[in-house]
Amino acid sequence: MNIVWVTSEAAPYAKTGGLADVSAALPKALSERGHKVSVIMPYYPQVFKDLTAKTSLRYELLGVPFGWTEEWAQVREHKISDNLSFFFIAYDLYFDRPSLYDFQGTEYGDNAARFIFFSRAAMQAVLALDLKPDILHCNDWTSAFCNIYLKTPLYWDFDNFKNCKSVITIHNIGYQGVFDKNNLFLSGLGWEYFNHTCLEYHDKLNFMKAGIMTADMVNAVSPTYAKEIMTPDYGFTLDPVLHHVSWRGKLKGILNGIDQDEWNPATDKFLPAKYDKDKMEGKKACKAALQKEFGLPVNPDVPVFGIVSRLASQKGIDAFGNAIENLLYNEDLQVVILGTGDKELEGHLNYLNGKYPDKFSVYLGFSNKLSHLVEAGSDFFVMPSRYEPCGLNQMYSMRYGTIPIVRGTGGLEDTVVNYDPAALDKSTGFKFYILSDEAIRNTLKWAIGIYRNEPENFKKIVYNGMATDFSWDRTASEYEAMYNEAFK
Ligand code: ADP
Ligand code: GLC
Repeated sequence: MNIVWVTSEAAPYAKTGGLADVSAALPKALSERGHKVSVIMPYYPQVFKDLTAKTSLRYELLGVPFGWTEEWAQVREHKISDNLSFFFIAYDLYFDRPSLYDFQGTEYGDNAARFIFFSRAAMQAVLALDLKPDILHCNDWTSAFCNIYLKTPLYWDFDNFKNCKSVITIHNIGYQGVFDKNNLFLSGLGWEYFNHTCLEYHDKLNFMKAGIMTADMVNAVSPTYAKEIMTPDYGFTLDPVLHHVSWRGKLKGILNGIDQDEWNPATDKFLPAKYDKDKMEGKKACKAALQKEFGLPVNPDVPVFGIVSRLASQKGIDAFGNAIENLLYNEDLQVVILGTGDKELEGHLNYLNGKYPDKFSVYLGFSNKLSHLVEAGSDFFVMPSRYEPCGLNQMYSMRYGTIPIVRGTGGLEDTVVNYDPAALDKSTGFKFYILSDEAIRNTLKWAIGIYRNEPENFKKIVYNGMATDFSWDRTASEYEAMYNEAFK
């Protein structure tokens, strides 16, 4: 198939979270399976830095109708293989910024305009580059306008889109792109699109909702999350919309995979020593390097709990911060956290860092290199998420022989098998379900107990995780099946 994949971020060019990892790995996997994939994303020069050198100008004057005028953008390209290219929409007014969506935690005030523009430019780029997609695959609210455009006379008559169906993947329903309705004119669409079957949402525009309503197929990034978002607890008010598409057989849950080349402890260039499931020595050196890097006493015997996370309410790190103090006081353990986000939470983590300098260490910032070291050097990896559409870190950690401790929600529920001594062969981690101090503490103590008193079982859990296949090969075929269903 000919697939156009539209996204606001993709690794390594620009990344704030898992969407970037998926937008790199799944297009790659699909292209290796014989499909022709063109990824379209914005060009953020300040974020790309040296990677700009890998791109070249592909189209100089891309006309983008916008509001009452026409703007001019460029298209840059990084060709990876005959089947895979990344195309970048360059338009400095909107994308030459220090970060993707916000400045130090405050969303850019013109995000509606930025991502209407990006979506319109992506549609124009398909025409300019003469791509002939069978599938237009959009991701989250930032590219959802493409799903709408495809169903409007602005695009449906072009040969390029004649036989094209569209898909939207929901990576996170908590972020919907809700904006003042007066932004509608920027899109070139009239008020007939401002109704309950499309953009209208409590007298505002809701990009995600409209994308879901206009796509031919919709999927969430894990089977459990696909069910959860149909409930008021997890749907962020869009649960009725998801019911609507589910009744029509248009909602799927497809588990994310990981790029097993990028995340491989046997070859990882960021690690001081390499290892694999049959030769674990190197992991000890990684643990020592991690302890050193985070300024903690280097001690092979103390259990290290790692976290790499956006510091957003979704991730439950606030609950972890509250629960952990009692253990820091009473137990011999170490905690390392790599994260950035909510300022209040950053403050609390800094406080714990100051109060327990030998046990608790936090690095506030974004570092790809450190994230690999935390995955490799920790004994356990904690994800106490309030909700987790899929989550990639638990899969990275299992691949690195680091046992995940997770709240059983979304993709965490689907990927981690709770420890059960009677089913040791299958166990890959530890789970709890209620996000309370007690549940978090008890689960951590349970894990410490196995670490100290049942070393053989501990090793077996590590081994099971490392032996599990989390590659895209497992689920890329489900995307192919969904693409085929879009034509039915
Ligand atoms: P989400 O997309 O909700 O943030 P995922 O688990 O799907 O959650 O993906 C998060 C990705 O972002 C992982 O690759 C993780 O390593 C990375 N990440 C998150 N925070 C940081 C950080 N502070 N530094 C480096 N990488 C980070
Ligand atoms: C979102 C979700 C995360 C998921 C990622 C990639 O950012 O929060 O759970 O793994 O998208 O699909």
